[in-house]
Amino acid sequence: MQWDTIIVGDALTVLRTLPDDTFDVGVTSPPYNKGERHKGWLVDRVLYDSATDARPEPLYQEEQVAVLNELYRVIKPGGSFFYNHKLRWERGRLLHPYTWVSRNRWILRQEIIWHRGIAANLRGWRFWQVEERIYWLCKPRFPGDTIGSELAPRHALLSSVWEIRPERDPRHPNPFPLELPARCIFSALDGRPGAVIDPYAGIGTTVVAAKLLGCRFLGVELSPQYAQVAFQRLEHAEEERPRLEEELQRHRVEVTFRERKARGLARPPSRRPAHPLRLL
Ligand SMILES: C[S@@+](CC[C@H](N)C(=O)[O-])C[C@H]1O[C@@H](n2cnc3c(N)ncnc32)[C@H](O)[C@@H]1O
Repeated sequence: MQWDTIIVGDALTVLRTLPDDTFDVGVTSPPYNKGERHKGWLVDRVLYDSATDARPEPLYQEEQVAVLNELYRVIKPGGSFFYNHKLRWERGRLLHPYTWVSRNRWILRQEIIWHRGIAANLRGWRFWQVEERIYWLCKPRFPGDTIGSELAPRHALLSSVWEIRPERDPRHPNPFPLELPARCIFSALDGRPGAVIDPYAGIGTTVVAAKLLGCRFLGVELSPQYAQVAFQRLEHAEEERPRLEEELQRHRVEVTFRERKARGLARPPSRRPAHPLRLL
């Protein structure tokens, strides 16, 4: 198989051609099947170049389960996949990604809240939805391994709420901010080089993060136009390094929990900025 490239094609079709146990980490945001019909007037319509984002919901979910199972096959034992999705409503009824995220072979390790700080649809049917979800999925290291290995404290301290502003880029309707795939890859590998996959690569944010982190990578993207942008970004990836470095600076710990416990100190002070709705 080819490394360090974007394959232009359908995610499921391409995944089926890849060998077992090949990648250490994956990060993706699939198309959300948002219907493209009832969009708020304040926010740009999310229309992809080559794909329709309006499919019968049962078919969409079946395909996502199939994609997640193929990803399970191609990730190495002990590897991780970070799957970004959001809560949607169809005629007032909640469609929760947990429905299909829990219907595949992965061990669901954590549901992370991606606090974007901005709502996509500013109507009053519900409290403004300012978050998306990131499902951290793990492949057991050996049969029966449902617990997996620990995160290094410098990553775990980042907490289960990630405050990262969404990216704006005229070349794609909803690319990742670089910090998001960088945080997933850096936390899972703790700085080791590894192999990274994104089956819905868009304009290549995950693969750019992987390259800057010294990893091998493979992206799959249906749109030749987005893949072209991804190739350009990969060529000039060093220009995005300052943003990566800013993210890496957030992964630090002064005193580990174990050291605090040994010294009889209280729990670590939160590094999260004060929030008006703090619960702790
Ligand atoms: C939410 S976007 C991903 C954006 C990406 N994270 C980035 O940073 O640019 C989903 C992407 O999936 C692509 N896509 C839609 N259907 C696909 C399919 N069947 N196979 C592969 N890619 C597909 C769309 O063209 C779109 O770029």
